[in-house]
Amino acid sequence: MSAKTSVRSAPGKVILLGEHAVVYGRRAIAIPVTGRCAEASVQVHAAGPVRLEAPQIGELWRSDGRASSLLAPLGELVFAALRHFDAEGAGLTARLRSTIPMAAGMGSGAAVAVALVRAIAAALDRPSSHEEVTRLAMIAERGFHGNPSGIDVEVTARGEPIVFSKADGARPVLPAAADFHFVLADTGVAAATAAVVGAVAAGFTEAPERYETAFDELDALATKGCDAIESGDAAELGPLMDQAQSVLAAIGVSSPEIEALVRAARNAGAAGAKLAGAGRGGHVIAIVLSPNDIPAVERACIDAGAADTCVTKLLRVPREAKT
Ligand code: PMV
Repeated sequence: MSAKTSVRSAPGKVILLGEHAVVYGRRAIAIPVTGRCAEASVQVHAAGPVRLEAPQIGELWRSDGRASSLLAPLGELVFAALRHFDAEGAGLTARLRSTIPMAAGMGSGAAVAVALVRAIAAALDRPSSHEEVTRLAMIAERGFHGNPSGIDVEVTARGEPIVFSKADGARPVLPAAADFHFVLADTGVAAATAAVVGAVAAGFTEAPERYETAFDELDALATKGCDAIESGDAAELGPLMDQAQSVLAAIGVSSPEIEALVRAARNAGAAGAKLAGAGRGGHVIAIVLSPNDIPAVERACIDAGAADTCVTKLLRVPREAKT
């Protein structure tokens, strides 16, 4: 068995429209954040333990010893992947690195899981289809989040913007007529997705009709968002994001820190802004109509308390390149 080191990566992501509603079967749009990524370096040995190292966060998980609860879902993924690629009983060492902040709505767990599956397949000299990668990565994602919709794994595995629903899966949403520029601002507040998804579930049980209405509104906004992206209408997308923020606040997943950054971004010239991901912390996403507006929006967010900012963009894909 080869002891070569195979390295694979996967990008971060943000949800543009439709978070939470997507858990309840509605549509959501997610876009990759290509400037942030997770990377897995994997060596497979003929025999021995499975060892996962994440030195940046001081975490180590070993199948034969000290177990870190944080990495345990990835340990489960490794055993399933070794079984799937006909290498049950093999030993494995994986070193995990990431520039995606954790518990910040940027899909760090999904990106690490996708990078890890790809690196395991490469180390075993096995091809890995999109279906195999996403199915195996979902094992870890379920361990991290309890009841994930699957959108994070899909967007990080594809590396392109998608619209996703549980029933229909994912399809690319590609801008054909204009580029889109976004500023991401980190509230600096860590919010565990599972806890916020659980709070929404509790609210849904209390007032199902109110939540169904909210999810339908978010679904309609995601549908309009697809049209805006595909027709290249950045000015249309901003108000849709603002409306989504109001609905998300009404179901209790905003926070004072999020509201402060949303306000600051809009006042500094963003065409729209909202929380991105589970909420109650994590990132805010703002759209700007010109890249020239980016520095002012970033500065305003930092002044309003953002721990960090970064940018991501969707570049137009000429129609002939889509076929
Ligand atoms: O992992 P986050 O924080 O980006 O949240 C994912 C989005 C949710 O809709 C809240 C959960 C899910 O599984 O889709």
